[in-house]
Amino acid sequence: MKIFIDSADINEIKKANAMGVIDGVTTNPSLIAKTGRDFKSCVKDIVAEIKGPISLEVTHIDTAETMFEEAKKLADIAKNVVVKIPLTEEGLKAVKLCRNHGINVNVTLCFSPNQALLAAKAGANYISPFVGRLDDISEEGMQLIDQIAQIYSNYKFDTEILVASIRNPLHVRDAALIGADVCTIPFSVIQQLVKHTLTDIGLAKFAKDWEKVPK
Ligand code: E4P
Repeated sequence: MKIFIDSADINEIKKANAMGVIDGVTTNPSLIAKTGRDFKSCVKDIVAEIKGPISLEVTHIDTAETMFEEAKKLADIAKNVVVKIPLTEEGLKAVKLCRNHGINVNVTLCFSPNQALLAAKAGANYISPFVGRLDDISEEGMQLIDQIAQIYSNYKFDTEILVASIRNPLHVRDAALIGADVCTIPFSVIQQLVKHTLTDIGLAKFAKDWEKVPK
């Protein structure tokens, strides 16, 4: 399973990348706003750090044409930019336009298996089902991943399932067990994945015992 970091914060991205486990980055307008920086300089730093796919989201969402125009500008920033397009009727049209133009697309804000089916048919490179936001309203986010995986396997779609809106390590484990292609994970959760109490206890014991060894 590929691991993307779900962040626009260059310090977090650099720290996670240094661990050697990061395959790409996803951003959205909220994550960009959280940095307090302007879009261009924020993205410039991410592009300089990450060689893998970097998702940047369109904001001019009125029509397929406005999204396509914005997508072209975003895709021009760097070869590894993937344009995030929302799962709406106009969004699906924009996906088609982008794909015909050779622009890679990540279809975002997916909350149902049927939406995922349509995104795949429109030619999306990635589908982003938001598991955490479903859990937040007492629906089972991970069930959606299971269903999309089944549908994509039934019809051999090559759209990659990019599990988004991850809230905790269990989401990551379950996505990996299902066989999702990608998980995009906030930095705080990446740090949680590393930690285990028994690792800390084991290290402390080894250090203490090592003191007893004659040197
Ligand atoms: C990433 O592609 C999504 O925009 C992100 O995972 C959404 O996460 P949230 O539901 O925590 O805002």
